[in-house]
Amino acid sequence: ELYLQVNMAPEVDLLCLHSISLIGFFTSAFGATTLLPSVAAQVKKGRNMSIAYLNGSYLPLDQAKISPMDRGFLFGDGIYEVIPSYNGKMVGFGPHIERMKNGLAAIGVQFDWTTKQWADLCQQLIEKNGSGNLGLYLHVTRGTDSKRFHAFPENIPATVFAYSFEIGPEPVADKALAKKYRVAATRDLRWERCHIKSIALLGNVLHFQQGYEQGYDESLFDADNQLTEASACNAFIVKNGTVITPALDNAKLPGITRHILLDILRRDGSIPVEERDVSMDEVYSADEVWITSSSKDIAAVVQINGTTVGNGEVGDVWLAAQTLYSAGKFNY
Ligand code: PDD
Repeated sequence: ELYLQVNMAPEVDLLCLHSISLIGFFTSAFGATTLLPSVAAQVKKGRNMSIAYLNGSYLPLDQAKISPMDRGFLFGDGIYEVIPSYNGKMVGFGPHIERMKNGLAAIGVQFDWTTKQWADLCQQLIEKNGSGNLGLYLHVTRGTDSKRFHAFPENIPATVFAYSFEIGPEPVADKALAKKYRVAATRDLRWERCHIKSIALLGNVLHFQQGYEQGYDESLFDADNQLTEASACNAFIVKNGTVITPALDNAKLPGITRHILLDILRRDGSIPVEERDVSMDEVYSADEVWITSSSKDIAAVVQINGTTVGNGEVGDVWLAAQTLYSAGKFNY
């Protein structure tokens, strides 16, 4: 039987390499004596840092293995979610799971976990991984087939994989601490089903890489001079005090951060909000531009393709919006 090993997170790899070089140092400096097992134990601990879930079992991430005949591996045939959690408290669990269920239904994967089952899985991941600041990655594929054939196979169980990865501290509403994002803007060359949170992210990856190689933090997408979203974020502009974001359709992922932010702003009522088409000309002449995602909250963009946004600083409307978002995001 052939197996594919699920890759470890890069930071775990680095930790292991560092620890392995320590073993080399202790071995050459002191001989392979009693020091070695304790270092080896640390290496083991480092390697096993994330406890993952795969098809009913909890196990160290580097021991989670799937078949190369899994349709997720062969076709990118599956759906995923990323839920942020800070000190054990998740942001947007309900809407994230609803989007997961919608995505699975949209691609016809028969998988009927209840919200309670997803909640239990997330809770277990949080507890087993130290309850710090974690991204919870959930992933369901159509399952493992015996042959590579495009049509959906019948009666195979879905593959369910989940793990957690460490994320930074909660973003804070403080202009001095906010990262200023510099982004690219390129023609949106992805497919016409971007509303589905598909694990097949090659289109997004190629766009992101193109910007990354030029030193940009993200890439905004332009479809016939209309803003859609970014490689891994939704996008907003601010003009004359109004927060504007492209209306949802099949060219954008219905982001949960976007959803929560719009709801919080509308309930608060002090900042006007519009969901409508946004032209790239409006983007370049906006007072502020933001990108939003589960791992970033609201991030201020200060430069697009080398052109300065507004006055080049993190804006006042960003500060007001991030303040409201920070105060309300755990209520979803
Ligand atoms: N990215 N648009 C795209 C294409 C995305 O991949 C994401 C999320 C978003 C924002 O969605 P949300 O607010 O629900 O995180 C918009 C995730 C975080 C990722 O792929 O890692």
